[in-house]
Amino acid sequence: MTDRTNHLIAVGLSRSLKRKPIRLLFEGLPIVLFRTQDGQARALHDRCPHRHAPLSGGKVVGDALECPYHGWQFNGSGALVDMPCHVGALPRMAVPALAVQEAGGILFVGKSGGNEPYLTCATGPDMIAMTMENRVRSTVLDVAENILDATHTHFTHKGILRGLSSRRYRVKITVTAGADWVEAVYEGEPRQEGMVSRLLEGERGKGVARFRAPGIAELEFWGKRRLNLATTFHLRQEDADTVHGVAILAGPRQGGFGWLKALMLRPFFRIALGQDQRVLEASKNNAALFGNPQAAIGPLDILREPIRAILEGRVPDIAGETVIHEMEL
Ligand code: FES
Ligand SMILES: [Fe+2]
Repeated sequence: MTDRTNHLIAVGLSRSLKRKPIRLLFEGLPIVLFRTQDGQARALHDRCPHRHAPLSGGKVVGDALECPYHGWQFNGSGALVDMPCHVGALPRMAVPALAVQEAGGILFVGKSGGNEPYLTCATGPDMIAMTMENRVRSTVLDVAENILDATHTHFTHKGILRGLSSRRYRVKITVTAGADWVEAVYEGEPRQEGMVSRLLEGERGKGVARFRAPGIAELEFWGKRRLNLATTFHLRQEDADTVHGVAILAGPRQGGFGWLKALMLRPFFRIALGQDQRVLEASKNNAALFGNPQAAIGPLDILREPIRAILEGRVPDIAGETVIHEMEL
């Protein structure tokens, strides 16, 4: 089993946490995120120990969060620091706190701190990145598979990620896996004719689709020599029906990408995400009407089982092996 208790998990964008506390579900429990006076992000269980009021309904006072009910105040570590109307020494009380780190404009929360959060495969001083977040009614398994699956793009994203022609090319796919990751490398695809590929220019070298614990799906689009574009999706099952995703769209500052291109890409990226969201939600709702039967696993669904294993904390069956597939893409 892989130990995932110390993973830091992306829960949102730094820019959406301002003066007002935010309540969200983290691993099944409501937590409150807030910023202390010096701008530090903090996370506590969103329950006042006094009468269980959600602390997120209160406000930040200095470095503490004030409960909206009787005004008790808790600092960023969760310790009770003020109890209005009370005379004398404060009783020792606390709200459980979680570790928070901010990196690359993303808020990460974990049970324990100390680890560096994983941000994206495309890091370095010559890379620029944009972030966005979204929620979709689905499961992490279905969303991750959707992001990494090449076969739906001809239909769901015709004209955006793929050209309008039905021309296909024989592509070689090399799948490798470790204890908590799986990766598929696509070779033999020429440059694609969709809008996104047109914007990126350059020859297509290879494509990489990767899933890694705890819930990170990423795509790399390589030119002949360098990485042209990378997208990293941090996925989190917020409640039984909702996946929260934080996406990073990154590319090299020079040449193929640049700010202008990044800005031009963003609307296409949003359209593609909307197309995926519609098909995922329609499928989920439809499955429910049929009593949620088992989904059929076809021979092209090469990453679903490894992704499922990683999400369940198991080592994928193909770990340590190299599996070669061929597809007409
Ligand atoms: S419920 Fe929070 S102070 Fe009373
Ligand atoms: Fe898609």
